[in-house]
Amino acid sequence: MSAASETATSTKAHRAALDWIRSGGKRLLIGGEWIEALSKKTFTTINPATEEVLTEISEADTADIDLAVHAARQAFESDSWSGISPHARAKYLVRIADAIERHAEELAVLESFDMGAPIAYSITRVHSAAELFRYYAGWVTKIHGTTNPTDNSRFIYTLREPMGVCALINAWNVPLVMAASKLGPALACGNTAILKPAEQAPLSTIRLGELIHSLELPPGVVNIVPGFGPTAGAAMALHGDVDKIAFTGSTEVGKRILQASSGNMKKVTLELGGKSPNIIFPDADLDRAVESSVIGFCRNSGQVCSAGTRLFVHESLHDKVTRRICNLASQYQVGSPLAQDTQMGPLISRKQMERVLSYVDAGKSEGARLMMGGSRVGDIGYFVQPTVFSNVENAMQIAQEEIFGPVLSIIPFKDEDDAVLKGNETSYGLAAAVWTSDASRAHRVARALKSGRVWINTYAETDPVMSIGGYKQSGYGREMGAESIEAYTQTKSVLMRL
Ligand code: NAI
Ligand code: MG
Repeated sequence: MSAASETATSTKAHRAALDWIRSGGKRLLIGGEWIEALSKKTFTTINPATEEVLTEISEADTADIDLAVHAARQAFESDSWSGISPHARAKYLVRIADAIERHAEELAVLESFDMGAPIAYSITRVHSAAELFRYYAGWVTKIHGTTNPTDNSRFIYTLREPMGVCALINAWNVPLVMAASKLGPALACGNTAILKPAEQAPLSTIRLGELIHSLELPPGVVNIVPGFGPTAGAAMALHGDVDKIAFTGSTEVGKRILQASSGNMKKVTLELGGKSPNIIFPDADLDRAVESSVIGFCRNSGQVCSAGTRLFVHESLHDKVTRRICNLASQYQVGSPLAQDTQMGPLISRKQMERVLSYVDAGKSEGARLMMGGSRVGDIGYFVQPTVFSNVENAMQIAQEEIFGPVLSIIPFKDEDDAVLKGNETSYGLAAAVWTSDASRAHRVARALKSGRVWINTYAETDPVMSIGGYKQSGYGREMGAESIEAYTQTKSVLMRL
């Protein structure tokens, strides 16, 4: 495709996204209808690159959540979804994937407007969302129970059944991928769903709701309820008629959800924070390690749960790798999310920017060496420079707490045992990486790291077949991969005396 036609396509997508935003009237999808919140209240979402208000959205609260749960319950009990042929259900999921791909550019532009990710990255995320729906479409016809061995006087078998009504609460950093990694398996397994996008970036999820609505899924199977955490989110977590809750966000809120869910023993999966170790041994391919490590902490402005924010470098290479990381990170294009060559956009909000900058101050006062960055870029939009600290000690606040910004801590290590020990010295355990050309060491270290995901000689690659989830305080259960099918079904054992 020529550069000119690339521009032409994206201009069309920009226009479609802008027209959609300006058409207003963003409502709640409940029971197959787009309706206003009962309170008539609305909230706004902004473009974090310009600080301008994009549009107003109906704000779901407790009473709306009640309606949505009722609609999802009716849809579930009517068998209009769990009772239809798996082939028919699979077809719907494939159609959702196709619809996402048909609108890929528009959805990517919407996401870039609403949460600030560079457009090139948003496009890859939209395709990942479609891929997730397609992957789970493949599962629908392959979810089955077992026939269990027993004596001749009995017949014992299991049924794999859906959970029922699933409440899905998402964060703002990769909205469509998160929507797909929850809705995909929930729908594949025959559940009905109530999905709350994050209040900071709800637009692409609302648009996804429109696309799903246009495919005429039975009413109440997918409900979309934009709103705030302490009101709509808390009501979902507390509701006595919700069977399962899946949440992505902070560990602090995750713990609250766990408590709220105990009222009716909801099944729970939680995808929480991380402080992932990325370990470079002296025999690593340094060119690739450096390049991937920069992506590992800068991608999506560091607003990634599995960001590689603790870089462990063998002490013999510490200064050299630090120089090379800084050299590459300083060339990063920070700017408008809609520009094709932008590599890093803004953070999501003023609050997040201030939070990230306060961690930079904490790093300086704890005695880490600020090698580059550490400041806001410009005075409009929430842009922060790629920031690198060297000579960091693992006990420092910047090495222990999730910053959720483009801030890297480089920490030297002595040998393999020291790297593993330090890598595991964290309350989190979401992801980790090891760089080495020694295959035995790669697998030894992969085994020793206490984390739900480990990369060898790469960082941040993903695939729908690969689950994600936390050891320690990074979460409960797993998302993506076959594990999600477990997470959205329950087993019933049946025994018959013959
Ligand atoms: P958050 O955990 O407050 O929000 C995530 C989602 O939970 C949003 O949809 C929000 O509306 C909802 N929520 C908030 N309070 C709730 C409650 N009491 N009950 C039910 N739902 C509730 O995260 P926030 O404020 O957006 O970010 C704060 C920090 O959390 C970040 O700086 C980052 O460290 C971490 N975070 C981690 C993410 C991850 O992928 N692991 C994603 C987003 C944030
Ligand atoms: Mg926004």
